Amino acid sequence: MTTNTSHFTGLRFMRLGMLALGIGMLFGVIGGFQFLFPEFLQELLFTKTRPMHVSMVVSWIFLVAIGGIYFYLPRQCNLPLFSTKLAKAHFWIFLVTGIAIIACYLSGNFGGREYFEFPPILSLPIFVMWTLFGVNYFKTARQYRKPWPVYYWMWGTGIVFFFITYAESHLYLIPYFRDNMVREIMVQWKSYGALTGSWNMLVYGTALYLAARISGCEKYARSKMAFGLYFLGLFNLMFGWAHHTYLVPSDTWIRTLAYAVSMTELYIFGKIIWDWRASLEDWQKGRHCNAYRFLIAADIWVFVNLGLALIISVPFFNLFTHGTHITVAHAMGSTIGINTMILLASIFYVIREELPEAAHAGCSSQLRIGYWTTNISLAVFFTALVLAGVGKGLYDGNSFQEMMTNIRPFLLVFTLSGVTMMIGIWIILWHGFRLLGQIIARGESPAPAAVAAPEPA
Ligand code: HEM
Repeated sequence: MTTNTSHFTGLRFMRLGMLALGIGMLFGVIGGFQFLFPEFLQELLFTKTRPMHVSMVVSWIFLVAIGGIYFYLPRQCNLPLFSTKLAKAHFWIFLVTGIAIIACYLSGNFGGREYFEFPPILSLPIFVMWTLFGVNYFKTARQYRKPWPVYYWMWGTGIVFFFITYAESHLYLIPYFRDNMVREIMVQWKSYGALTGSWNMLVYGTALYLAARISGCEKYARSKMAFGLYFLGLFNLMFGWAHHTYLVPSDTWIRTLAYAVSMTELYIFGKIIWDWRASLEDWQKGRHCNAYRFLIAADIWVFVNLGLALIISVPFFNLFTHGTHITVAHAMGSTIGINTMILLASIFYVIREELPEAAHAGCSSQLRIGYWTTNISLAVFFTALVLAGVGKGLYDGNSFQEMMTNIRPFLLVFTLSGVTMMIGIWIILWHGFRLLGQIIARGESPAPAAVAAPEPA
C-alpha cells in the first residue's frame, strides 16, 4: 500500500456522489407527488424536478464509480496515481459544473436535449474533466506490466467510450444532423444507449474488482467468463443501442440481436456474482458483510430486471408497454437495483478496509434497517410502476383523464414506497458519508506515535 494521500480524492468523489444521491432522490419524490397532484409545488414544475432528479442520481453513479477508481488504483493496486493534481482538478470541475447545471435548471435556462437539458456550453468542462480522467487513468494503469485483469479493461473502456458517445450525443449541434428528424433521433438514442453501456462498464468493473478482492481470488477478474462478459458488454455498448430506437424505422433483426446481447450480458454478470457467492467461505462473507449484502442485492435485482426485460422484449407485449411506466421501471429498476447496490457495496468495502473497527460497530443494526427498508420499498416501487404501465398500456379509451384515474392507486403506491425507499437510502448514506469523512480526517491528522507491534505468542 502507498503511504501518500492521493486516494483521498477518490473518497471525496464518493462523498460528493452520496450528497448528489441524497438530494437527487428528494426531487424524484417531488416528481412522484406531481404525478398525483399536478398542481403540487407550482414553483418547481415537473419539467424542472425531473431533470434535477435524473441528473443528480446519474451523477451519483459516475461520482462513486470514478471515486472508486481513484481510490483503488493507488491504495490497493500499488499503482501510484500519475497525478493527484489532475484528480483534484477533475473533482473541482465536476463540482462547479454540477452547480452551474443545477442553477440553469432552477432558473429555467434549458437547452440541449433530453437528459442533458442544460445549455450545451456546459458540456465543454465535462469534456475537459473527462480528458483529465482518461490521461490520469491510462498513465496510472500502464504501470501495471502484467496482463490486465478484466476490471482494468472495463474501467478503461468505460472512460474512452463515455468520451466518444458523449461527443456523439452533441452531433445535433451540427445542422446536417439537426435538420433531419429521423437522423437526429437515431443518433441521439444511439448515443444514449452507448452512454449507459459506458457507465455500466465502470460499475460492473467495480463489482468484479470487489468480487476478486473479497474472495482474495483473481479468478473472478481473469476467467474466460469475466472476459466473455467484457466483450459482450463492449459489443452491447457499440450495437445494443438498437433496442432504444423503436421509434424510428429499422430492421427487426437489428433490434432483436441488440436485445439478445444486452440480456446475455446481464445474465452472465448475474451468474458470475452468483457463482462467486457460492464460493465464499463464511468468514469472508462476515468480514465484508455490508459490501457482500449489497452485492447479493444487486445480483437479485439483475435477475428481476432480466425477467422484466425479457417480457417487454416480446413484440406482442412491447406493443403496449413501450413508453409507459414500465420503461421507467426498467430504467429505475436497473439504476437503483443494480448500479446503486454495487456502488454502495464499493463504499462499504472501502470502509471495512480503512476503518475496520467502525465497520461492524454501532451502525450495523441501523445499516441493516436501511438495507431492508430500501430493498423492500424498491420491490413495491418497481411492482407499482409495472402495474401502472400495464394499466396505461391496456387502456383502450381515449380520455387521458380516465386513464390517469385508473392507474392512480398504483402511482400512489409508487410515490409512498419512493418516500420509504428514500429514507432507507438516506440511513445508509448517512453512515457511509460519516465514516468516509472519518477516514479522511484521520488520514490528514498528524500521525499518532507508533505503537509497538505485539510479540508473537
Ligand atoms: C437511487 C435512487 C434513484 C435512482 C438511481 C433513480 C433513477 C431514475 C432515472 C434513471 C430516471 C429516468 C427514467 C427514464 O427516463 O425512463 C428516473 C425518473 C424518475 N424517478 Fe427516479 N431514481 C431514484 C429514486 C427515485 C425515488 C425515491 C423516487 C420517488 C418517487 C423517484 C421518482 C422518479 C420519477 C417521478 C421519475 C420521472 C418518471 C417519468 O418521467 O415518467 N426516483 N429516476
